[in-house]
Amino acid sequence: MKVTMIGAGYVGLVSGACFADFGHEVVCVDHDPAKLEALNSGRIPIYEPGLDALVASNAKQGRLIFSGDLASAVASADVVFIAVGTPSRRGDGYADLSYVEQAAREIARSMDGFTVVVTKSTVPVGTGDEVERIIQAENPEADFAVVSNPEFLREGSAIDDFKRPDRIVIGTTDERARKVMQEIYRPLFLNAAPVLFTERRTAELTKYAGNAFLAMKVTFINEIADLCERVGANVQDVARGIGMDGRIGPKFLHAGPGYGGSCFPKDTLALVKTAQDAESPVRLIETTVAINDQRKRAMARKVVRACGGSVRGKTIGVLGLTFKQNTDDMREAPSLNIIQALQDNGATIQAYDPEGMDQAAQLLDNVAFCKTAYETAKDAHALVIVTEWDAFRSLDLERLRETMASPILVDLRNIYNPTQVEAAGFTYESIGRGSNGWMIDAASEAAE
Ligand code: UDX
Repeated sequence: MKVTMIGAGYVGLVSGACFADFGHEVVCVDHDPAKLEALNSGRIPIYEPGLDALVASNAKQGRLIFSGDLASAVASADVVFIAVGTPSRRGDGYADLSYVEQAAREIARSMDGFTVVVTKSTVPVGTGDEVERIIQAENPEADFAVVSNPEFLREGSAIDDFKRPDRIVIGTTDERARKVMQEIYRPLFLNAAPVLFTERRTAELTKYAGNAFLAMKVTFINEIADLCERVGANVQDVARGIGMDGRIGPKFLHAGPGYGGSCFPKDTLALVKTAQDAESPVRLIETTVAINDQRKRAMARKVVRACGGSVRGKTIGVLGLTFKQNTDDMREAPSLNIIQALQDNGATIQAYDPEGMDQAAQLLDNVAFCKTAYETAKDAHALVIVTEWDAFRSLDLERLRETMASPILVDLRNIYNPTQVEAAGFTYESIGRGSNGWMIDAASEAAE
């Protein structure tokens, strides 16, 4: 089928390349000339493992092309996906739908014959109705259907998530559109990917509910981790213990510095707003947002405590800047708040990240960017692991200790074993595995 993908960002580029790999003819449309120039010369403007090879092979076979000409890409398409950004609007947290609305107007003016218009971007409940209204107003003769088909792609594993999805959610009650969507995803039906056909608003809300639940699950284990530190328990074993319950499951129970990225923060906020407007507030998610916001600076306080109560005049090495490993995305990364808080407390920051430093340099001031983890540790009074890159998982502790000003390691992703690190002569702080618990203190006081 002929597929047009509007927006060649994290979602559009991965989805377009995967649809091409299914054998469809795909035109990825973007209005950024620099991005188009990069893509047309084989350079991928984002870091996503495997995407460069996937784009190259499909572009070579002529199944995937990049264009700035939305009109002709829409005119020739059977399906037009809207995969443009829906960032949080400055100041009030509502999703900014201006790019979606603009795309709808341009699509309306260019479509030819029955066209399925799909919202792939994460959009608030009711956006499909708005897109439908815009198209009808722009082109009363248009023969089309608007479908919701939210993406569930995790950055760093997006291609695998697309090709081996837990499920496909398709929101439409139009029979012709249903047939087109079945054809588009036929290769996945063949490997029995479960498909949920439902109506449009339900599909839109399903996306938000999914992300909000995952954000809440992560925040839950983060709070349990804080409790573990107070009572001297181990959050990793608690996570394993509850995760063995089939109703809970082991995933998304890794305690850390708080969630970031381009999705959880904006989607939780947008859902909170939708629910407040509908006078049915999602208070659990409101609380999740508040807890997560506070957590990032709390992590900086953990570093200050590990340094004896002050970082003034000290050098802190930060390993990992991106919001998680295997991405270059710095959006809402915990490192931004942690570094700012440490600088506010008088620390000098040197940092390294395998992929995120170009983006980080545009967001951080007065940070010295290093080329390796060991350079980051040089003369540092403490080393903080913020992102769980594989490159940080088996550092030479002896070499680190020799190069650092003081052997303090704060591991915000629990990638090291406390016993091993302490045996190497470090003061080691991590998440939810400390025994600086008050119950132990209380018990020892009682014993005196
Ligand atoms: C998320 C959803 O997983 C995906 O389905 C949706 O389409 C887009 O948003 P993404 O934002 O790429 O994907 O990252 P994800 O892997 O979900 O992690 C989100 C945040 O939670 C990251 O900051 C990550 O570090 C954090 N996290 C995740 C934890 O702190 N602990 C965990 O156990 C899992």
